Amino acid sequence: MLFRPKTKVCLVLLQVMEIIEQIREEFPALHQQVWGKPLIYLDNAATTQKHRKVLELQERMSSLTNANIHRALHKLSADATDMYEAGREAVRLFLGAESREEIIFTSGATAALNLIASSLVRSHMIPGDKVLVCEAEHHSNIVPWQLACEAFGRSVEVLPVEENGEISLERLSELLEADDRIRILTVNHISNVLGIINPVAEIVRLAHSKGVLVVIDGAQGVVHDKVSVKEMDCDFYVFSGHKIYAPTGIGVLYGKRSLLESMPPYMGGGDMVDSVSFSGTTYAPLPLKFEAGTPNFVAAACLKPALEFATAVRDDVQVRECERRIVTAMVGELQQLEGLRICGLPQDLSLKTPIFSLSIEGVHPSDAAQMLDKMGIAVRSGLMCAEPIVSRFSDQGLLRVSFAPYNTIFECETFISKLKLVINMLL
Ligand SMILES: Cc1ncc(COP(=O)(O)O)c(C=O)c1O
Repeated sequence: MLFRPKTKVCLVLLQVMEIIEQIREEFPALHQQVWGKPLIYLDNAATTQKHRKVLELQERMSSLTNANIHRALHKLSADATDMYEAGREAVRLFLGAESREEIIFTSGATAALNLIASSLVRSHMIPGDKVLVCEAEHHSNIVPWQLACEAFGRSVEVLPVEENGEISLERLSELLEADDRIRILTVNHISNVLGIINPVAEIVRLAHSKGVLVVIDGAQGVVHDKVSVKEMDCDFYVFSGHKIYAPTGIGVLYGKRSLLESMPPYMGGGDMVDSVSFSGTTYAPLPLKFEAGTPNFVAAACLKPALEFATAVRDDVQVRECERRIVTAMVGELQQLEGLRICGLPQDLSLKTPIFSLSIEGVHPSDAAQMLDKMGIAVRSGLMCAEPIVSRFSDQGLLRVSFAPYNTIFECETFISKLKLVINMLL
């Protein structure tokens, strides 16, 4: 009787470990050695490994169903088109969007943000208007706005984050209140540095109450939080396929239909037109209006198995339990290390995802990353393409460790013990 609670805990842990082992079986890349050590892949915020079903479909389409989409009457082209459009339907379902017209394929989150910035700044702002950009954005959600604003005489303002990395709704409200030239707010769902789930629905509500459009960078958000663009009510939402178990070269732009219809095309070319003549060109209806040229139809089709897997793990209690244990272990253990700071630690720990950026006094992040690599542990160091927020915490970059649902608690513990070893060796 006395041992029952402990036995129960062990049983839960065993079940969790079993599920994660089953998941790992679906990812061939995880079963390799680097420098003679079993790979522990903890650079998932940069790119995730690919699911077996994704790899199989990629291979099948590249070797068999290889024909350009939307253009020919032959069977192979029709099949490739169907698979491409099935990818779109999978995205629509995954994001909870109303119609397929609202789902635009791009080459990645970066391309999607460039499209929105260029088209929206040109068409929905006048000189003197402003875009409010969160301080914790990836460069791909800063530079496109700077480029578009420079080109069209608009400007960029900054929404700073708090000392612990959280966005303050009060501060946002004050900024919007103080400046009625802000027309667009762009903010991450989860920062690739801070790993905090931002209150995106509240942010959207606040911005909309001031007539401000909201763009959400969901590159990390789709991986670690449930997304419903309808419930969130954002105007735009973007993500990249390769960060969610799909191949590189495919990304998604969700936009509200009425807005997308009111925006000019970003790129011109084949497939995005209705009729072309030298006296004037008319454009294809959504979504093709924004999909000029031959798209990466193989990668788009691969989004279907990738997002099906992502949905399954997102809704699995055992996987959630494993993620929670990893976050708890990382915070608990790392906070005890002298001179180590976790950059991005929300007051409510349930908002922390397993993306950890660390600054360690006296330890250069590149040295630590190189030593960990030799131990078989892949992590990231440097500016993480987010210089403004990283340089707020450190002038030599940070060490980033990011977990996926296929990472085990054992891998987490190994990382922590090896990091301690590295720190001891470097200090
Ligand atoms: C939050 C965030 N936004 C945007 C991007 C850009 O994604 P991509 O390089 O796939 O276009 C990244 C990539 O790291 C990211 O983490």
